[in-house]
Amino acid sequence: TQRTLVLLKPDAVRRGLVGEVIGRIERKAGWAITALEMRSLDRALLEQHYGEHVGRPFYEPLVEFMSSGPVVALVVEGERVIEGVRQLAGPTDPIAAAPGSIRGDFGTIVRENLIHASDSEESAERELKLFFPGLV
Ligand code: GTP
Ligand code: MG
Repeated sequence: TQRTLVLLKPDAVRRGLVGEVIGRIERKAGWAITALEMRSLDRALLEQHYGEHVGRPFYEPLVEFMSSGPVVALVVEGERVIEGVRQLAGPTDPIAAAPGSIRGDFGTIVRENLIHASDSEESAERELKLFFPGLV
């Protein structure tokens, strides 16, 4: 079994979509939310979280957006949950995301794409430590 880090981004919180998105995750058979926190993210944490994107043209606006309001951070555990939540989310660009996916149903802007989910086992371990350092 796997675990992954999910962030409901500031747009999801502002638009009142937290319950909707958490509901989709909760309803997947055998998955469980094992930690949950609402918090604001500072630049230092975002630089670590998005280290692979530092220096890219979209990095600064991404950090501005991700620190523009609180996010909801979740740990989700279950069968193939890393790939599974990415599938629920859909592709990065919400216009390219199919209806039925979270980004496809609710997004239009690449930056404001509602949800983050770890993209591999290595990313998941690294990101979980960053957001939930007390996790065993
Ligand atoms: P995350 O789960 O947030 O990491 O999204 P992702 O894995 O689907 O995308 P990626 O890690 O490549 O990029 C991180 C975030 O940066 C995306 O979710 C977007 O919000 C933003 N982003 C990525 N690529 C672009 C881009 O080409 N243009 C803009 N404006 N934003 C981008
Ligand atoms: Mg990513």
